Amino acid sequence: MPENRPENRIFSGIQPTGNLHLGNYLGAIRNWVTLQDSFESIYCVVDLHAITVPQDPQQLRQSTREVTASLIAAGISPQRSILFNQSRVPQHSQLAWIFNCVARLGWLNRMTQFKEKAGKNRENATVGLFAYPTLMAADILAYRATHVPVGEDQKQHLELTRDIAQSFNMNYGVEFFPLPEPQIFGSATRVMSLRDGGSKMSKSEASDNSRINLTDDDNLIAQKIRKAKTDPDALPSQVEGLAGRPEAQNLVGIYAALADSDVETVLREFGGRGFGDFKPALAELAVAKLSPMGREMRRLLANPGDIDAVLDDGAARAEAIAAPIIEQVNEIVGFLGPVGRR
Ligand code: TRP
Repeated sequence: MPENRPENRIFSGIQPTGNLHLGNYLGAIRNWVTLQDSFESIYCVVDLHAITVPQDPQQLRQSTREVTASLIAAGISPQRSILFNQSRVPQHSQLAWIFNCVARLGWLNRMTQFKEKAGKNRENATVGLFAYPTLMAADILAYRATHVPVGEDQKQHLELTRDIAQSFNMNYGVEFFPLPEPQIFGSATRVMSLRDGGSKMSKSEASDNSRINLTDDDNLIAQKIRKAKTDPDALPSQVEGLAGRPEAQNLVGIYAALADSDVETVLREFGGRGFGDFKPALAELAVAKLSPMGREMRRLLANPGDIDAVLDDGAARAEAIAAPIIEQVNEIVGFLGPVGRR
């Protein structure tokens, strides 16, 4: 059954939490776009994961549309890939429950993301936040995905996914789930805040000037780059010269990523020149690359019906893959199925 045992199937997820920024784009989404060429790709807006912390319902719906629009605007093809929101495919929740009965408290207790997100007041964290990684395992394994593009911060969750798959297979004496491989983006750019080269660009930083949102218009993009924190020195000609200069390193890294180039090449061009020269060049490049994306996003958001149609179609195609897999899982586990399928 080649359809049910894919060799090249990617699954990845992104949280529907507000507008995406340059860090999301250069760190992850750009890679998703490239991977569409060599994999059967399934991309999911993970609204079930979002409610592990409190969400405003209207805002959650809006963010789900916004993130979907960003993905399309960034180049995810709703035809070539499957693009949908998690809550529309009930098999994710069904498999997550089964995995809750496979994963051990001890395994989940080791998850660093839970510790960070729960903070000091662990007793007050939702059970869902604690079980977040079993749902993530279900996302991936409901499709028997073989490869999962994730950033460094999700590596531990992916290792847990492999442990769950392996335990399930062992417990039931089957070779049903693949052990999915992480695809840590080698070429991904860790984009830092424009106000502080020592912290990651983030939607939760208070100052909007710290990030470039994919919805920012040309003027705003240029203005944010103009205002970006720098140091007084000229750019070095060699990579080593960026050591101890996090802001310079960040801006040069962003330039290299947007130009599809590398830091060496950028420094060969700009070494010896000050930020007065470099920032306008970066602003021009950023506007050229990002403004078509922003325009497409605004067009889509003005036509939410188009976004919803993409998600409808994606959910139907996703469920067509996941439903037969979960039926087999139910049988393996020993659930009594409907008459005619026993
Ligand atoms: N936990 C991931 C994140 O926060 C999002 C996610 C949910 C995901 N399900 C997934 C990523 C499945 C990869 C595969 O980034």
